Amino acid sequence: MEEVNVFKDYYNNKVQLSFLDHPFSKNPKHVWIICRYKDKWLLTDHKERGIEFPGGKVEPGETAGQAAIREVMEETGATVKKLHYIGQYKVDGRYETVIKNVYFAEIDELTPQPTYYETNGPVLLREVPANVKRKSNYSFIMKDAVLESCMLRIKKTYV
Ligand code: GTP
Repeated sequence: MEEVNVFKDYYNNKVQLSFLDHPFSKNPKHVWIICRYKDKWLLTDHKERGIEFPGGKVEPGETAGQAAIREVMEETGATVKKLHYIGQYKVDGRYETVIKNVYFAEIDELTPQPTYYETNGPVLLREVPANVKRKSNYSFIMKDAVLESCMLRIKKTYV
């Protein structure tokens, strides 16, 4: 397939990233959402993995877009004003293959929640640190070329 970037992730798994329209699956089971609130990036602090942009699994009966909006609310308390599809990536893990839609979400409200599920809730950053790969308080999903490529694209188009 053309226009696919291929690289290894933090765990040395093969990753394929593309900005085409759903190149790997029309119904991906996972979503990842790069969020912007006012002039900051909005992330969450996952209790096991560390700081990352929110995301998770698409539930039965839900579209990927609906899952993205729900996951952002659950993990940060944020309301999505506008959701933009950015691209899709596929990770060939040791036991399974994961296909994930990446979105850019414009946030209009941040409301404190009674629970943030498996996370400690919202984290606002003016910039995502350049050396995130070496920071143990950041999640492995922030430590491969998906983040950099998607951020470049978002900054060019929306920010
Ligand atoms: P739960 O069922 O929620 O506990 O999740 P899980 O730990 O089984 O992981 P999941 O099904 O989300 O993903 C399975 C594997 O795919 C992970 O262990 C990772 O190796 C890989 N993976 C999942 N999401 C990502 C991602 O965003 N980036 C990278 N590089 N790998 C991922």
